[in-house]
Amino acid sequence: MVEAFDAVDIIRAKRDKGALSTEQIDWLIDAYTREYVDDAQMASLIMAIFLNGMERREIFDMTQAMIRSGERMDFSQLSKPTVDKHSTGGVGDKITLPLMPLVAAFGVAVPQLSGRGLGHTGGTLDKLESIPGWRAELSNDEIMQQLEGLGGVICAAGKGLAPADKRLYALRDVTGTVEAIPLIASSIMSKKIAEGTSALTLDVKFGSGAFMREEERARELAETMVALGTDAGVTTSALLTSMESPLGLAIGNANEVRESVEVLAGGGPSDVVELTVALAREMLASVGQPDADVEAALKDGRAMDVWRQFVTAQDGDPDGALPTPNETHVVKAEADGVLTRQDA
Ligand code: URA
Repeated sequence: MVEAFDAVDIIRAKRDKGALSTEQIDWLIDAYTREYVDDAQMASLIMAIFLNGMERREIFDMTQAMIRSGERMDFSQLSKPTVDKHSTGGVGDKITLPLMPLVAAFGVAVPQLSGRGLGHTGGTLDKLESIPGWRAELSNDEIMQQLEGLGGVICAAGKGLAPADKRLYALRDVTGTVEAIPLIASSIMSKKIAEGTSALTLDVKFGSGAFMREEERARELAETMVALGTDAGVTTSALLTSMESPLGLAIGNANEVRESVEVLAGGGPSDVVELTVALAREMLASVGQPDADVEAALKDGRAMDVWRQFVTAQDGDPDGALPTPNETHVVKAEADGVLTRQDA
């Protein structure tokens, strides 16, 4: 096969602060997926993107090319509207766990195709896998059945969705290029658009526990992603939330599941409850339910009912004992006082 472009020319163009054409980006992502462009070349290019950025049009092209690298899901056969949430992640961010059942309790479908940890932030699937028996891998048929039935699913994004991103994501993790806005925005939005949701609420974090330390950068990321979603026909909005301190009181996979169940039981730390409620409101408003009483669904057990059905549907035991650590270490305060800040 005669290749349309040369990877080295593309790397040089970005190294020298140029903009890549739509054709160059399409070819590059396709050639990387075919493994014609190797990881060394891609690593060099993404460092150039990290340092020199991309224009809006380039980010859009990159997102569309990554969507085309794989399959697209289609939820149009469901009898309910679909709405998804994506958080850019942060220390102690377990919000997906109480949020999915809470929103699904209002008769909408919540397809949470999730990922694993990246950088220093834990992934939703890693957390849920601490529930005995719980299964992250579902077939497309199982996903559809679960969405039509109980209304929500949290599972691994199928290997077929944006496969180019899968390789790129792993490469970024080991090349110090995670925190680049064009790469984060195209990575997240390619998967979310390919996933086929009709509405999407983004939780974009800033602060010491997030990829974006500064609020201004987080705002730029949020605006970039909202534009990408809107241009692709997905009703997209974003909340900017602080990740200066860890969310809630628990960090670590099993601990975060425990805390999420407390929220579903009507308790839990106030910051976790507040963010869960704010995101649930935004998600429900985006599918035509702006007045949904989400607090009531946490208090009266409706969200907990969906959680238990969800864990059971994915072979988990909602009453199973969660693992406890083999080792513990107690840190004693040197003096009495009140903890006012915990650097995430
Ligand atoms: N989550 C993603 O899917 N991609 C990123 O780049 C960062 C967080």
